[in-house]
Amino acid sequence: MYILAIETSCDETAAAVVGDNRRVLSNVVVSQISDHAPFGGVVPEIASRRHIELIRPTIDLAIEDASISLGELDGIAVTQGPGLVGALLVGISFAKGLSYGLGIPVCGINHLEGHLNAAWIENEPRYPYIGMVISGGHTSMYRVIGPDRVEEIGHTLDDAAGEAFDKVSKLLGLGYPGGIEIERISGKVADDSNEITLPRPMISDGTYNFSFSGLKTAVLRLVMELDIFPEKGLGFSGLPRRMSPKKGKGHYIPMIARAFQEAVFDVLETKALKALKDFDMERLVVTGGVASNFRLRNRLAAISKSHGIDLVIPDKKFCTDNAAMIGIASIRYFIEGHVSDLSMNALSRWKIP
Ligand code: KG4
Ligand code: ZN
Repeated sequence: MYILAIETSCDETAAAVVGDNRRVLSNVVVSQISDHAPFGGVVPEIASRRHIELIRPTIDLAIEDASISLGELDGIAVTQGPGLVGALLVGISFAKGLSYGLGIPVCGINHLEGHLNAAWIENEPRYPYIGMVISGGHTSMYRVIGPDRVEEIGHTLDDAAGEAFDKVSKLLGLGYPGGIEIERISGKVADDSNEITLPRPMISDGTYNFSFSGLKTAVLRLVMELDIFPEKGLGFSGLPRRMSPKKGKGHYIPMIARAFQEAVFDVLETKALKALKDFDMERLVVTGGVASNFRLRNRLAAISKSHGIDLVIPDKKFCTDNAAMIGIASIRYFIEGHVSDLSMNALSRWKIP
């Protein structure tokens, strides 16, 4: 069985072809980063317009890379939500048109279920596990007993971890997307440096929930107290625009970035260990854009070794948004015949299960 998967929930136009043996035959991701970077974040209207321009060539390339023809497809999987409705509708409309034209079924997939399934690309799924989706839109923890037995045990009460990376990057006068910038600049500071420390929100509150907006405010306060940026650099929201620090103040930026990164990762790691212990599990799946961070991957690898955890983190390219994960998540629905019809609509919010 060949499935064409389409993902347009945010700022990546992505298409992939996967087989029901969990193999990825092609995986094309066209990033819109340069379109959104001048605004320091994703602009929904721009995202929708770019998806419309990019979707056809992206799908053509995915079909070509897979060395198959459209006529060989057995089904189309498409992200139905959660995400930006205008962006989702581009993928959904295209998928419906193609499904009608080719006479093959279409299946709407939950983006978060897609992220979890990235762990099982070219890999037989192993259950049960504690799953963490750490991205720009979500930071959620799941107790996963089987493919259709997924229970959300915690989520962020405010910003997602990736969103906090993006906002802190902006505060530090760095670029967008923030995760990559913060990771890069943190690498300039030794791992055992503790010159600057930041709070670890909700680290021992006894839940599996998160809060990252206070941490972002703590960074803002620090930036103000240390008087890092020239006054004219502050935008009207009080946040510095992408700009250079005052003379002699530049060395603070990597230190703050690193302190922020360690604070976020301490919280994520502590909650992961707590969930594994509380639910008596030995397997941890960590996915989403933030899971592409090498420091987090190394930290998790270290605790998996010391605690005997079966750690599954997808390849970097499958942690950030992609269509292959949507295709992999759809396999069981196509096999079971649980497909959608042409009345399928975009869902801005949609929890698993
Ligand atoms: O999963 P994803 O591609 O899209 C969503 O579903 O949100 O995640 C994007 C998020 C962004 O907030 C980005 O800053 C963050 O993942 N991110 C990172 C890294 N690469 C991307 N965060 C930390 N370190 C990274 N290396
Ligand atoms: Zn995502």
